[in-house]
Amino acid sequence: MSNIIEVKDLKKKLRNNDVLNGLTLNVKEGETLVVVGQSGTGKSVLLKHLTGLMHADSGSIIIKDRDMTYASEAEWYQIRPYIGMLFQNGAIFDSLTVGQNLIFALDHLAPNMTEDEKDERIEYCLDVVGLEGLQNTSPSELSGGMRKRAALARAIVANPHILLFDEPTTGLDPIMTALVDELIINVKQKLGTTFIVVTHDMASAKRVADRIVLLYQGRIIFTGTVKDLENTTDPYMIQFLHGNPHGPMSD
Ligand SMILES: Nc1ncnc2c1ncn2[C@@H]1O[C@H](COP(=O)(O)OP(=O)(O)O)[C@@H](O)[C@H]1O
Ligand SMILES: [Mg+2]
Repeated sequence: MSNIIEVKDLKKKLRNNDVLNGLTLNVKEGETLVVVGQSGTGKSVLLKHLTGLMHADSGSIIIKDRDMTYASEAEWYQIRPYIGMLFQNGAIFDSLTVGQNLIFALDHLAPNMTEDEKDERIEYCLDVVGLEGLQNTSPSELSGGMRKRAALARAIVANPHILLFDEPTTGLDPIMTALVDELIINVKQKLGTTFIVVTHDMASAKRVADRIVLLYQGRIIFTGTVKDLENTTDPYMIQFLHGNPHGPMSD
């Protein structure tokens, strides 16, 4: 499988703090890569570098064979339709219907689609997330779980090849967490999307991950499958897995 993202020796200082300190990471096309690590270790900063919201001090970022390390706003704009991001709270607009929320995203990311193509795409994406026929519903009438589904439908509507999820299950109860995990698995199966999921929920990581990486002090210090992780003899990893209150899972 080829790499859809290649990050090499990435460095980023923020307020005199070496947040990313030689981070190297490859993401394979179609895989779900889970990123774990303690709070404040640079997980969100990494995702921001993959969407052009932050810019590297040094190193390189290749996305779909394009060198994006020092890309201009215009170059980021070109590849933005390929990269969807789902923030923790989904940010669905209550002033718009579910369908209008999706049209809003399409107008930005796929302005050349015809109205019919947009309608068809929206119908398809609502099907994928289990909200068929709810185009004209107001998000305020939806349950929490359905809002999550709507936010995900909006994230996939422009057919991104890569979806970045920053702690999608933080603050959710176990049932909602399982729902988000199930959505990730479904979307991956149906659309072949590549996922990078930041989480600190190990149960969730185990359900969705093809590979897990651990970020620590600005670098990736572990890469492997869930099985590799469970069989690790590395003392730091063992501490991490067992959620030592002073360890990395303390957030
Ligand atoms: N815009 C910013 N300006 C200065 N420091 C920042 C900024 N964003 C993040 N940081 C710092 O970078 C470190 C990593 O943050 P972040 O990536 O948000 O951590 P997390 O792994 O919890 O997502 C933290 O120490 C945070 O305070
Ligand atoms: Mg974060």
